[in-house]
Amino acid sequence: MLKLFRYLRPFAAPIALVLGLTFLTALAELYLPTLMAGIINVGVVRGDLLYILRFGGIMLAVTLADAACSIFASWFSAKVGMGYGRDLRRIVFERVELFSLHEFDRIGTPSLITRTTNDITQVQNFAMVVMRMMIMAPLLAIGGVIMAVQLESKLTWVLAVAIPVIAAIIILVASRGLPLFRAIQAKIDRINLVMREGLTGVRVVRAFDRLDHERKRFDEANLDLTAASITVNRLMALLFPLLMLVMNLTSLTILWFGAKLIDMGGMQIGSLMAFIQYAMQIMFAVLMVSFLFIMLPRASASAGRIHEVLALEPGIRDSEGARSAEEERGFIEFRNVTFSYPGAEEPAVRGISFSARPGEVTAIIGGTGAGKSTLVNLIPRFYDVDSGAILVDGVDIREMPQERLRTKLGFVPQRAVLFNDTIAANIRYGKDDATDTEVARAAEIAQATEFVLAMTEGFQSMVAQGGTNLSGGQKQRLAVARALVRKPEIYVFDDTFSALDFKTDAALRAALKEETADATVLIVAQRVNTILDADRIIVLDDGVVVGTGTHRELVRTCQVYREIVASQLTEEALA
Ligand SMILES: Nc1ncnc2c1ncn2[C@@H]1O[C@H](COP(=O)(O)OP(=O)(O)O)[C@@H](O)[C@H]1O
Ligand SMILES: [Mg+2]
Repeated sequence: MLKLFRYLRPFAAPIALVLGLTFLTALAELYLPTLMAGIINVGVVRGDLLYILRFGGIMLAVTLADAACSIFASWFSAKVGMGYGRDLRRIVFERVELFSLHEFDRIGTPSLITRTTNDITQVQNFAMVVMRMMIMAPLLAIGGVIMAVQLESKLTWVLAVAIPVIAAIIILVASRGLPLFRAIQAKIDRINLVMREGLTGVRVVRAFDRLDHERKRFDEANLDLTAASITVNRLMALLFPLLMLVMNLTSLTILWFGAKLIDMGGMQIGSLMAFIQYAMQIMFAVLMVSFLFIMLPRASASAGRIHEVLALEPGIRDSEGARSAEEERGFIEFRNVTFSYPGAEEPAVRGISFSARPGEVTAIIGGTGAGKSTLVNLIPRFYDVDSGAILVDGVDIREMPQERLRTKLGFVPQRAVLFNDTIAANIRYGKDDATDTEVARAAEIAQATEFVLAMTEGFQSMVAQGGTNLSGGQKQRLAVARALVRKPEIYVFDDTFSALDFKTDAALRAALKEETADATVLIVAQRVNTILDADRIIVLDDGVVVGTGTHRELVRTCQVYREIVASQLTEEALA
């Protein structure tokens, strides 16, 4: 929690203002009962109208000043709180953007989202409340006691009894409530998870007719949260009447004994009323402090979750003195590369060595789960290798600035990712300053023009969130256009063509061939058809290379490749 308060530093000035203003408010509130006591004791008792008017005027002025200070304090504290939240969100977001996929795997995307939204809101609210109460509560409590004792020392014992009773009640309730508050936070996480899965997987849920199952799962999480919330609220519902009871009993006691004192001539009416007001102020101050303590665990749990994100070092960083290779263009070499996913028992790829040259097409083929995607994901450093090295233009990619590496790459991932923006903007994602002609040309090569122009607003049509208004093949073609517009030295297509029909696949590859003639092209494929004329085919099986060569060579030498070819030939023959 304290670590996060560091980011409050830019707000030093407004915070000082809030503290100063609340200080003034507290002073005013401490002064008012004494003023009132004076008016009653002196003015009313003596029937001195002038006295009443004079001090009444002062009271009015103090009250107005009090109100003004209080309003400004609220205003500034809201400003600080919101600004603080905004800064925290920005800091967390910027941090997350540096993460490699390792860190995403570790914390989990839904949790990262909750942390940037809900958790930051908790911390922000807490900071706001602390700012207001930090000065108010101690001042009212201590000042109240001093003023009350000064006014009438014979009644202080009532306070000495009432305050411990209130404190005891709060401690009792809080110690039962706090674990529940924490449990509720976890249950909210659970609801988020179930909800998210239900929404993103809605097609699967419907197709497999699992609506009832999902509904039950949600109901369970929902009822769980409801039950916990009800328990907490029951406890809280008990707290307030109990506190009011104690407060009212305190007033009653003060009145009872005060009345006797007045009867004996040992006290004045005004003092008695002021004393009661001070007693209330003191008890409210105790309440405020206890609220802080109730909020604290929740906020500190959130702060811990945020700090965890900020403290997580991005696993992949530019090394000192990163070298950039200027001489060669797009030459890739894998040297005995082995990589395992965190927590996996076996490496996903093992001992991979090969090189890919500009002007050549290198294809990677293999069954599902063979490690094809893993292999190509190592090139943009989504993950770093465990042993061995990947060299681009003769430089280990770990020693190259990431930006330099990534400008060399046009990467089309297996699952095309589109953003909720126009088609043109999605293609321009590959190159910010691409002209309309460049965008149109990239779309033309990617065989996307036809379906884009068929949409109502052409290139200005919106892509729905997650690209749901496009088919899988259409999304893939836009992703290809995005890579093309970049004119990179290296193209990586991860299973890009399997979502396309044979005709589009052929047309796209023919157009690509011209465009990428001088570039290094890596194609991950399922269909032998797609890669027949590749300069080099690498056959992956279970994470290892079992064959390298052209189609002709492999058919002769590689058993696994022969099996793949055989299975697809029969499929085609049947089709
Ligand atoms: N993010 C991940 N975390 C852990 N294991 C993974 C992850 N992605 C893939 N794998 C595992 O790595 C292996 C290779 O997967 P992948 O490279 O996607 O295969 P392919 O693209 O050839 O179908 C599989 O056994 C898969 O279970
Ligand atoms: Mg794959």
